[in-house]
Amino acid sequence: MSKVKLNLIAAACENMGIGVNGSLPWRLKKEMAYFTTMTSQVSDPTKVNAVIMGRRTWDCIPDKYRPLSNRVNIVLTHHVDALKEKVPEGVVVVPGLDAAVEYIESRPDIESSWVIGGSSIYEAAIYHPNCGKIYLTEIQKTYDCDTFFPNFDKQQFHLADEEDIPGGRQLEGDISYYFRVYKKL
Ligand SMILES: NC(=O)c1ccc[n+]([C@@H]2O[C@H](COP(=O)([O-])OP(=O)(O)OC[C@H]3O[C@@H](n4cnc5c(N)ncnc54)[C@H](OP(=O)(O)O)[C@@H]3O)[C@@H](O)[C@H]2O)c1
Repeated sequence: MSKVKLNLIAAACENMGIGVNGSLPWRLKKEMAYFTTMTSQVSDPTKVNAVIMGRRTWDCIPDKYRPLSNRVNIVLTHHVDALKEKVPEGVVVVPGLDAAVEYIESRPDIESSWVIGGSSIYEAAIYHPNCGKIYLTEIQKTYDCDTFFPNFDKQQFHLADEEDIPGGRQLEGDISYYFRVYKKL
């Protein structure tokens, strides 16, 4: 089996909502900074990480922030040729998660791979044999959402204690959340 591990990273509120009207239901600067750090940091400075996302999540990223900097951006779509014409050079467009894994295998300079949404890509990654950990920010509030993090079997994961993850309750304004890491058993 391939050595590529797929780590998922998501922020979800109490009803497991992750999005509304093509954007995030909340504005949490420090949570966003955590996302950037986790998906960008490498232990080998000659390497980079990959972020894997669905076409709608790509569409949601404001022009000035995309492609996400210092990361190989991989976008999934059923219309590869059409999307390839629209994205900036360097953005990788693939027809599915297996193709993304295959691409990553061909790039020894990629250190870690982060699945950054949305719903169906998370779901495919959870059930993929290469699934590693789920980095889930659990926001202690309910928002109106139209997009949700998939249900996952918590029997197949255990809550991991990660040294480099800020522990305990995080507070931003009047919103609190926890950085949790679930590791696939
Ligand atoms: N809170 C968070 O952590 C977080 C993270 C990410 C996104 N979001 C939010 O989630 C929403 C967007 O997510 P979403 O679930 O609606 O869409 P999405 O998963 O980002 O994108 C869906 C699109 O991806 C492509 N796709 C999906 N599965 C595929 C497969 N197996 N093979 C090939 N292509 C595939 C298809 O593109 P084509 O239609 O082009 O074929 C599909 O329409 C936004 O509101 C965003 O803000 C939140």
